[in-house]
Amino acid sequence: MTERYVVAVDQGTTSTRCIVFDRQGRLVSVVQREHHQSYPRPGRVEHDAAEIWRNVRRLAPQALAEAGITAGQVAALGITNQRETTVLWDRHTGVPVGPAIVWQDTRTAAMVTGLAGEPGAAAVQERCGLPLAGYFSAPRIRWMLDETPGLRERAERGEVLFGTMETWLIWNLTGGLHVTDVTNASRTMLLDVRTLRWSAEACDFFGVPMAMLPEVRPSVGVLGTATTALPGVRIGAALGDQQAALFGQTCFSPGEAKCTYGTGGFLLLNTGTEPVRSGHGLLTTVAYQLAGEPATYALEGSIAVTGSLVQWFRDGLGLIGSAAEIETLARTVDDNGGCYIVPAFAGLFAPHWRSDARGVIAGLTSYVTKGHLARAVLEATGWQTREVVDAMNADSGLALRALNVDGGMTSNNLLMQFIADVLDVPVVRPMVAETVSLGAAYAAGLAVGYWPDLAGLRRNWHRAAQWAPAMDPARRAAEHENWQAAVERTLGWIR
Ligand code: G3P
Repeated sequence: MTERYVVAVDQGTTSTRCIVFDRQGRLVSVVQREHHQSYPRPGRVEHDAAEIWRNVRRLAPQALAEAGITAGQVAALGITNQRETTVLWDRHTGVPVGPAIVWQDTRTAAMVTGLAGEPGAAAVQERCGLPLAGYFSAPRIRWMLDETPGLRERAERGEVLFGTMETWLIWNLTGGLHVTDVTNASRTMLLDVRTLRWSAEACDFFGVPMAMLPEVRPSVGVLGTATTALPGVRIGAALGDQQAALFGQTCFSPGEAKCTYGTGGFLLLNTGTEPVRSGHGLLTTVAYQLAGEPATYALEGSIAVTGSLVQWFRDGLGLIGSAAEIETLARTVDDNGGCYIVPAFAGLFAPHWRSDARGVIAGLTSYVTKGHLARAVLEATGWQTREVVDAMNADSGLALRALNVDGGMTSNNLLMQFIADVLDVPVVRPMVAETVSLGAAYAAGLAVGYWPDLAGLRRNWHRAAQWAPAMDPARRAAEHENWQAAVERTLGWIR
């Protein structure tokens, strides 16, 4: 019998990857392409959805060619994506009506502040499980509909459609299927997180016509069949990238958590089949739903800027030539020299949710060198992780015992040690660090019976590395206070 495989498309913030996996969850081929990041004004971040689709159309056959397989050998395709990024397009021509507005974009901050004072704001937050913030899709949809004359009327007639990236890709792959999955839908701030249906109340609050919304489907279960790029291949699953990483780390039981370090950092804790409300600034989100089964929920601590701070250090400041060089530069000094960087580039996400915050470099003296700055860049990821872990411990009443990590930044040993030090728990990395793609592949393979059950997937998880905490408690406490003082200085910058 010819060997069969599962393909994952990971449409991320900075690039799109297409990966072929075998039955043991091993990578057979990986292809990747970056797309253009457009920053037309301070605080604005845009993508060209058409460019992203062109990349997927090119990458998918390329991944198969590199693996030496045909589309006939692909059991299923799993799609995972940057969440919240919003694209609107014309139903008849399939052409986007403007640039996609990216999840990091802060243009809706003032609108969101205004909406917070409107009647119904508290009820919508309760229904959707999310704080009112410019991070989610709904304010962006409203902004686009307000901006272009006549667009809202066309949306009301169902002529203009909304999607996050998985919806846009499935539409193009299938030649016009307009669907989303529960995980991505739960990030729009339009979904009733309990019933898993669009909330008329939330749509009304944001002024979003329901006619433009895709059909909501379970994450794991055949969504349709591709007619382009991978013709004849069934799309077995779609999940937001952070939920896919939770799936790839096989965190299937309540109490299991992971943190993925990419452009941003996202810590998700499986809370089981009931949505849990956070009292400490975390999000209630859908973790995944297998077709025909109740949804599994998660509490999420979202950090807007982790890897993108290293990127800024490289491209914005030009202090390193490659992301990997930051570790070498940071190792030229013993500590941060008293310097702290709080990268509130897009305001502060969890647990603060302050869109009026902007970044600071605190504690500068003439003693500080670029080596100290490199340390402060890495430490910012550690301290932000500490903030969401503290919130999670406070919400759950339990102390996290170890942190499972994945994503590009986990190859930085200095950072992983620092995270273990400031959390005071071991940090554990699995063999396959590509857990976002792996999770999408697992979910798609499960949908078509390529893998039989969740227990079978768990057996594929293997530990690759572990970092044990080694920081002196008094030093940890003192540095934590410094960090908190630096965070205070970011707040209220935008008035
Ligand atoms: O919520 C945004 C998140 O999904 C982006 O993930 O990996 O593209 O930074 P990433």
